[in-house]
Amino acid sequence: MRYTITAALPYANGPVHIGHLAGVYIPADIYTRYLRLKGHDALFICGSDEHGVPITIKAQKEGITPQEVVDRYHTIIRDSFAEFGISFNIYSRTSSKIHHQTSSEFFEKLYQDQVFIEKESEQFYDSKANQFLADRYILGNCPKCGAENAYGDQCEACGSSLNATELINPRSAVTGHTPELKMTKHWYLPLDKYEPFLKQWILEDHKEWKTNVYGQCKSWLDSGLQPRAVSRDLDWGVPVPVDGANGKVLYVWFDAPIGYISATKELTPDWEKYWKNKDTKLIHFIGKDNIVFHCIVFPAMLKAEGSYILPTNVPANEFLNLEGDKISTSRNWAVWLHEYLRDFEGKQDVLRYVLTANAPETKDNDFTWKDFQDRNNNELLAILGNFVNRSMVLTHKYFDGKVPEPEPNAFVAFDKEIMDEFPIIKQKIETLIETFHFREALKEAMNMARLGNKYLAETEPWKVIKTDPDRVKNIMYIAMQITAGLSQVFEPFLPFAAAKIRKLLNFETVDWNLIGNCKALPIGHQIANPELLFTRIEDEHVVAQVEKLQSTKQQNLSNKFKANDSKPLISYDEFAKMDIRVGTIVAAEKVAKTKKLLKLTIDTGIDQRTVVSGIAEFFEPDKIIGQQVSILINLAPRELKGIESQGMILMTEDADGTLRFVQPTLQTKNGCEVK
Ligand code: 2FM
Ligand code: ZN
Repeated sequence: MRYTITAALPYANGPVHIGHLAGVYIPADIYTRYLRLKGHDALFICGSDEHGVPITIKAQKEGITPQEVVDRYHTIIRDSFAEFGISFNIYSRTSSKIHHQTSSEFFEKLYQDQVFIEKESEQFYDSKANQFLADRYILGNCPKCGAENAYGDQCEACGSSLNATELINPRSAVTGHTPELKMTKHWYLPLDKYEPFLKQWILEDHKEWKTNVYGQCKSWLDSGLQPRAVSRDLDWGVPVPVDGANGKVLYVWFDAPIGYISATKELTPDWEKYWKNKDTKLIHFIGKDNIVFHCIVFPAMLKAEGSYILPTNVPANEFLNLEGDKISTSRNWAVWLHEYLRDFEGKQDVLRYVLTANAPETKDNDFTWKDFQDRNNNELLAILGNFVNRSMVLTHKYFDGKVPEPEPNAFVAFDKEIMDEFPIIKQKIETLIETFHFREALKEAMNMARLGNKYLAETEPWKVIKTDPDRVKNIMYIAMQITAGLSQVFEPFLPFAAAKIRKLLNFETVDWNLIGNCKALPIGHQIANPELLFTRIEDEHVVAQVEKLQSTKQQNLSNKFKANDSKPLISYDEFAKMDIRVGTIVAAEKVAKTKKLLKLTIDTGIDQRTVVSGIAEFFEPDKIIGQQVSILINLAPRELKGIESQGMILMTEDADGTLRFVQPTLQTKNGCEVK
C-alpha cells in the first residue's frame, strides 16, 4: 500500500513547541514509522510555511526582511525536528523556487478553467503606511464577544472567524491609525459551488472521521459556504500570476497546502504517484484550528484542479495546554522544542512518551512538569527500562550474555500463556494505530513490558537457578524474545530507546513481525553489555523548568500592566488634612482565623499603636519587625476581627498584585511627616 502523510507546515515565525508536537508531529511520526515497519511505501512530507501576515509583521517589528525572519526560524525548526527524530522524508519550505512555481501553476490552471470569481470590493487601507491591511494587519474589538485586539480574520478570545469590516473600532496594526476603505480586486474560490460535493464526500462518505473533525466540518457545511478570497494585497508571498495583479500575492492558505505537493516534487521525480494515483492514501495530520482548510478549502481546490486525489483521512487533534494555561507564542507560554533538546539532552523519547501518553486526541489536555517527571520515573524507567535491564543482566549472569538453548518440551503452561498474549496485544496496537488512537496504542505497548516484568517476577529465575538451572534456560530464552519484541514495538513511539535496545541486543533487524515471535533471537546469539535505557529525572530538573515558567508569568503580567486612570482632582486643603508619618514596626503577628490580616504595633514617634493590615500573604510577621513604614495616623479608628485598627499603612501594589511598603530610603526618625 502507498501512503502520502503530511504534517501541517509550521509557520516560520517562531520555533516549534510541545503543543505542535503533541497535536501533529508526534502522531504523524508514529503513524509513518509504523507503516514503514509494516513494509508500506509511506512518504512523510512537511516544511516551513513561510508566507502570511504574521511573518511580515514580525519582520517590520524587528526591522529585518521577511526572508531573514523565515531563514532564522526555518533553520531552528528543521534542525530541532531532525534531532527529535521526526522522520520526514523531506522538510521543505514555501519560499523555495519550486513551491512558487508549483503554487503559481496551480492557480493558473484554476484561473484558465475560470474557476475563480473576480471581484472588486472595499477593504481597509492605511494611508499613512500606504498599504492595504490584510488579515492580522487590522485590529479591533470583536463584534461577537467584544474582546479587544481581535484580528481582521479571527478573534483569538472567542475563536470566531471574522471579516475585517465587521470589527468595531478598527485600527491599523502598522501605525495604529483608523483605516479608510478603498476598492481593490481579488480572486475568490466559490466554495458554495462545491458545497453539494463536500457534503456528500465528508458527511456521507467519511462518517468514520474523528468526531471532532466530522463535527466541525458538519457545522461549516450546515451554515452554508461562501466564496473565499484567495489573494491578498501584500508584497510577501507568491505573486498572483495574472496580468495587472501587481502588488497582489496568493493568500497564505491557498499556497501553504500546495506546499505538500511542491515538497513531494522536490523529493522525487516520481511525485505524481503520491498525489494522483487513486491507490495512494493521503492523510493530513493537523491541529484543530486547521480543520476547515484541510477538509473544505484544500479539497475544493484539489477537486477544482481535477487531477489530484483527496485525503482519505484528516486526524486532527485538539489542543495541549501547559500547566493549566493555553500555550501561546506571543506570551512565551510554551515549552520550546529547541530549548527542551538543550535542557534534556538525549531525552527525546521521554518527551515523545509523555506527549503521546497525554495526547489531546479527543479533548484539550494539560502538560505539567510533574507529570513529565512521574511518567519518566514510574513508567519508562520502572517498567520498560527495568524489564530490559533485568533480562539482560540475568542473561549475562547465567549464560555469559548468550541466548540460552531452551528445552523444547519443558515450556510450562504459564510460559505459553504469556507468549500467547503478545500476538493479541500486537493486533490491538495495529488496530489502534490504524484508527489514530495513539495514546491507547502506546498503553498497549507498555503492557508488553509490564507482561515481561510480570513473567520474571512470577518465574523468579534468581531463585530457580539454585534448584533447577535448566528451567532458567527456558525462562531467560523467553525473556530475551520479549526484549527483542519490545525493540520493535517501541520503534514508532520511542525510536531512540528501540534502537538502543537493538544495539544492546546486538540485533539490528527492524521488522514488525518480530513482535510476539518466539524465535526472534537465535539460540546462542551474543548480546552486548547492559546499559540503562532511561535515567531518573530529579526534582531539581523540573523545578528549574517550573521556575522558568513562573518568571514568564511575572513578565507577562508586568508587560500587561496599565496604570489606572487618575482620580478626580482634590484641593490642597483636602490633601493637607491627611497626617502621614514615618513609623517603625515593633511587633507583628497573624490575626487568628484569617488569611490576609496582620496585627502590627507601630511606633509613630508620638505613640505606639495597633494597626490591622491586609498584608499577611506578602510578609512573614517575624521578618518585618524593625522595618519603617508610612502610616496615616489620623484615619478614624475601625474594628477588624474584634481588634481596633488605629491608622493605615501605605502600600504600593505591583502589576502582579504584590504589595510593598512605602518607606523612606534612609533610616528616618519616627514621627517625621510625609508630605
Ligand atoms: O496553522 C499553521 O501553523 C499553518 N502554518 C499550517 C499550514 S498547514 C498547510 F496547509 F500547509
Ligand atoms: Zn471574540
